[in-house]
Amino acid sequence: MATQPEKRVNWNRASIEALIDSDRGRLDRRIYEDEAIYQLELERIFARSWNFMCHESQIPEPGDYFINFIGEDQVIVARDRKGKINVMLNTCRHRGNALCRAEQGNAKSFVCSYHGWNYDLDGRLIAVPGRDIYYRDKFDRTQWGLAHAAQVENYLGFIFATLDKDAPPLSEYLGDVGRTGLGMIAAYGDVEVIEGIQKNVIDCNWKIAVDNLFDWYHVMYSHASAGATGVVDLPAILHPKNQLVMLGDYGHAISGPGVPSHLQAEADALSDEERAAYKGPALVNMAALRPREAVALMGPEGIRSAGHPNIFPNAWVTLNGLQICLRLPRGPNKTELWWFTFVPKAFPPEYRAALVSQAIHLFGPSGLLEQDDGENWSQSTRASRGVASRKLDHVLEMGLGQDEVKVHESGQRVIDTTVNEHGQRWFYRAWSEWLAAESWQELEASRTAPPEGVI
Ligand code: FES
Ligand code: FE
Repeated sequence: MATQPEKRVNWNRASIEALIDSDRGRLDRRIYEDEAIYQLELERIFARSWNFMCHESQIPEPGDYFINFIGEDQVIVARDRKGKINVMLNTCRHRGNALCRAEQGNAKSFVCSYHGWNYDLDGRLIAVPGRDIYYRDKFDRTQWGLAHAAQVENYLGFIFATLDKDAPPLSEYLGDVGRTGLGMIAAYGDVEVIEGIQKNVIDCNWKIAVDNLFDWYHVMYSHASAGATGVVDLPAILHPKNQLVMLGDYGHAISGPGVPSHLQAEADALSDEERAAYKGPALVNMAALRPREAVALMGPEGIRSAGHPNIFPNAWVTLNGLQICLRLPRGPNKTELWWFTFVPKAFPPEYRAALVSQAIHLFGPSGLLEQDDGENWSQSTRASRGVASRKLDHVLEMGLGQDEVKVHESGQRVIDTTVNEHGQRWFYRAWSEWLAAESWQELEASRTAPPEGVI
């Protein structure tokens, strides 16, 4: 074991690319503790990518707003009087004070608590106390509106924003895999977010929390106690031999249980009445019996997924399309988890109540699964800080070179396999490519395309 003092690295393309060895499945642990890497992530990943802000059902009326983050930049997502959605940095242009302190609500305008500058819902500075006397009528308030995100777009009701004007259009950014992931929610039809976002902080690096959502290896072991309580039926959801993986552009991926093609075909052949009465294997009930229209949103292969999509970098679609969880970075060693719970508007009250109960008991501050996961993530992160420990690579070898990405007629690329680590390797490979590129142009020129064939 090495005991020589380390030199702290000045990160460049070569040293960043060396952090992940995708061909051998090795990962350098310094990615979880290095402050310079963390700052690069904020600049080159979060400030450059499209970030999930909220669902349009959360801000239906003029004046409605929701506070979120792009990396560590806090933003106000506000619907103005014309109905347009604005994403603006939540920092007063005078001396930087946080303008809006409530997490969500309805406002006529945003008034700063420090000196009283007043901003309209579209970010224009509309009033400055003492402008006549103290500023002697010389202050041009038209120059000092709130800073806006470079681009804001709405895909099927999901609002995303990016701070980079060079980012591609949202639909192109999402690509097939991102669109399939969001389609998992939209497949339920007209949905809304249940009031109250569950939020909690875990002492872990945000990437550990992301890679875990592709990790179906830990489920039977880490969550055995949750299974014993009866709150989850692990054998029913795990299906180790029916795993379906999709690897998409920019690092998006889906991994987890998938309906085998023959079962999907059987389900598709059922009449609407037969579908309503169907009591087949749990996996088929979960995914194959989505409304028929879902195939237009998820594609003929994607619709077989009951797994976990992640919209790169940090938006996880879970509970088979009934939640989104954001893994928000708060330094190399801290992550804030935000849980958005979706419900079809047509659901009767008892279904809605059951969904809320499930959301509370599985994830968030009182979630049984989250307690199991959080302990592992925080200890894995903690062990990356030790001088000797951080020199030991992580191993991501499972399934390496043993599976095949098949390209179907529809163009969708799918791996049908058992439990594996393809999603994690793809995520970290994309992560390193984003981190090494200094601009969108460089990223587009250097990134790896989603693979085909043996992987
Ligand atoms: Fe906001 Fe001065 S910091 S008004
Ligand atoms: Fe887990």
